[in-house]
Amino acid sequence: MNIRKVGVLGCGLMGSGIAQVSATAGFDVTVLEVEQKFLDKGFAGIEKSLAKLTEKGSLKETPQAVRARLKGSTRREDLADCDLVIEAVIENAEEKRKIYSALDGIVKKDAIFASNTSSISITELMTATKRPERFVGLHFFNPVPLMKLVEVVRTIATSEDVYETAYDFGKRVGKVPVRTSDKSGFIVNRLLVPYLLDAVRAYEEGVGSIEDIDQAMKLGCGYPMGPFTLLDFVGLDTTYYITHVMFEEFKERRFASPPLLKRMVLAGWYGRKSGKGFYDYKDPQKPVAQDSALRGFAAEEAAAKIA
Ligand SMILES: NC(=O)c1ccc[n+]([C@@H]2O[C@H](COP(=O)([O-])OP(=O)(O)OC[C@H]3O[C@@H](n4cnc5c(N)ncnc54)[C@H](O)[C@@H]3O)[C@@H](O)[C@H]2O)c1
Repeated sequence: MNIRKVGVLGCGLMGSGIAQVSATAGFDVTVLEVEQKFLDKGFAGIEKSLAKLTEKGSLKETPQAVRARLKGSTRREDLADCDLVIEAVIENAEEKRKIYSALDGIVKKDAIFASNTSSISITELMTATKRPERFVGLHFFNPVPLMKLVEVVRTIATSEDVYETAYDFGKRVGKVPVRTSDKSGFIVNRLLVPYLLDAVRAYEEGVGSIEDIDQAMKLGCGYPMGPFTLLDFVGLDTTYYITHVMFEEFKERRFASPPLLKRMVLAGWYGRKSGKGFYDYKDPQKPVAQDSALRGFAAEEAAAKIA
């Protein structure tokens, strides 16, 4: 199947990145959002990223040429003639199912639907549509323009040619696709999420400061960033939603949200995107670890556990 026009649902961290790499690869892209202000924010991020890539000399065309292939919309009908629709809205099964079900009657019948979900069952999302054989997972990584991996997820209903078209699309947008099946967390999050949650638990238990735990995992394991920097980057809210889905699936403590993560999300500390998480990003170049604000809380949590 020939993919020419791509629809992207959501223009947040991931949707904007997916839209950018798709347009860079030569596809016409329409991004759907609930409000214009989210499109404006997402497109501003894309323009910044394209400018940086141009500076580095890694863009083959001018940023304007890429930008010209990108359109934003708040009208679902504008996605009717897409060949591939990739969803990247919030990590909530109900929200995702609602939008798939609405689009199923609007987007042409032979188009492929894909989800960028980190943890929700692709099969569960697929059942919101009448195109089970044309439904896959395309799980990109953050930041999409820089991260090379895409997990291509099949369900028991995905047809072989749809799966191979999605796999090929991954290559065409410059990624290295890996094959996986519809098990919560796929490959990367199955291994990564318990590690990130364990870092929060270690912090709650007073194993080390935010910076020391980050530094230890960077220098001791050769990771490019420590777990708290990564959590702030991914979004604490997104991580928290993921824990719900993965804990529900496996019923294992290693996938359960530590109390501190929950409290931070309730307080609106989502990480980089909200300006504050395990670090404060008032000056994004010089994040300040939030030990003094969090440690009292973390100690309380530890004490509560002992009692
Ligand atoms: N953040 C990460 O590192 C990461 C990595 C891989 C996958 N994911 C997955 O990607 C998805 C999106 O995550 P994100 O980090 O980009 O979230 P985000 O909060 O940055 O963006 C979500 C966007 O979706 C929009 N939205 C909500 N409902 C919508 C609807 N009905 N129609 C159109 N737009 C709608 C919101 O306005 C928001 O702009 C989630 O499923 C997440 O699990 C995230």
